[in-house]
Amino acid sequence: MSLPGLKPGNDGRVGDDAEQIHISVAVGTDDQGRSIFPAGRLAPSTYSLTIRAVGYNLDGKPTVKHSGGSGRNRRQRQRAAQRGWENAMKHFTDRVAAITGAGSGMGRSLALALAREGCHLALADRNAAGLAETAQLARAAAPPIVGAPLRVTTRVLDVADRAAMFAWADDTAAEHGRVNLVFNNAGVVLSSTIQGMDYADLEWIFGINFWGVVHGTKAFLPHLRAAGEGHIVNTSSVFGLFAQPGMSGYNATKFAVRGFTEALRQELDLMRCGVSATSVHPGGIRTNIAQSSRIAKNMVGFMIEDEQQGKDHFEKKFFITAADEAARIILDGVRRNRRRVLIGRDARAADWLTRVLPSAYQTLVVWRMHRRMRRLAQKRAREGAVAGRPA
Ligand SMILES: NC(=O)c1ccc[n+]([C@@H]2O[C@H](COP(=O)([O-])OP(=O)(O)OC[C@H]3O[C@@H](n4cnc5c(N)ncnc54)[C@H](O)[C@@H]3O)[C@@H](O)[C@H]2O)c1
Repeated sequence: MSLPGLKPGNDGRVGDDAEQIHISVAVGTDDQGRSIFPAGRLAPSTYSLTIRAVGYNLDGKPTVKHSGGSGRNRRQRQRAAQRGWENAMKHFTDRVAAITGAGSGMGRSLALALAREGCHLALADRNAAGLAETAQLARAAAPPIVGAPLRVTTRVLDVADRAAMFAWADDTAAEHGRVNLVFNNAGVVLSSTIQGMDYADLEWIFGINFWGVVHGTKAFLPHLRAAGEGHIVNTSSVFGLFAQPGMSGYNATKFAVRGFTEALRQELDLMRCGVSATSVHPGGIRTNIAQSSRIAKNMVGFMIEDEQQGKDHFEKKFFITAADEAARIILDGVRRNRRRVLIGRDARAADWLTRVLPSAYQTLVVWRMHRRMRRLAQKRAREGAVAGRPA
């Protein structure tokens, strides 16, 4: 077979053991082994393709009889299955990815990183302007070598709307022909004491952060299974690992996403259906999330000076990782089929702290928060004294 940029790999192995066929190809090199890509766009690679023997159960549904990478012996295959490596998606070229919250922050960075790899995109957000901008940037970022142009579709929706999410998943599968990846990334922040919290605010954050993830998972899972190869990436947070005063609503949604995704991953491992799942736990990432967060009045004068100061303080103090770097780490986690992805040294530190001090970490959090509140009270007292001083 002679196709530009496609030729047998160096090992040249084309084998068949009656149940599996292994084909190893080098993609992206000409006959002399030189890269066919413009400099800096994509690197040539060698890909291994395993065509697995497929059987059918009594309902006529296809079942994968054998899985595992090419050339691996049985013990290696068993170990890979136990560790969940066998479902790893090694690259995203010509795959189809659906991303919620694609109009800003990490959702946008994921869209652009995937577009650069030649992955077709179905993007959703409730912010139409941000979404259109991401779609335009993604088309511009796409490499010119993909046979058909990169397909980018957009949908303005609210992830909390179950019917809208199911309709979007069905339309995405119809428009793109298949779906391989779903990133349930859209999210919002609420800061409030529990005593002063409005039920409406709690329902709002649960609708987006938790139910949005549930709808995205349930709506896309049948399509990922039908594609035979898929990955669900649910964004929790460092606040899905440890709790903090004033963040109970956010904490509850992100702990819930973590539990939901860890159970999902185990079910998918047992089903061996070619679909996997990862729970993502970013630390502070430089995005718009703080500025678009809801801060209840009960926090002002308690843990923060005023609403804007609270948002700015959070951004300045905690946002240490760039969104593009976060997207790179997430996609690397998908390639490695990680169960949990931690982003940033703050997330790694929180993970370590909650292992070493599973419940006692709370004392440290309270101590730090208390110190901050005391400084805030002293500052207010000083300002009050200055304001009350005669001119
Ligand atoms: N930035 C951080 O420090 C950080 C840390 C941990 C976890 N996270 C999580 O990462 C995810 C992405 O957040 P980000 O930091 O990129 O924030 P961001 O505000 O930059 O982006 C979030 C996107 O989600 C969209 N969105 C919000 N509500 C929606 C809804 N109901 N329906 C559809 N779209 C909606 C917004 O319009 C926005 O485009 C969120 O789940 C967030 O909780 C962020």
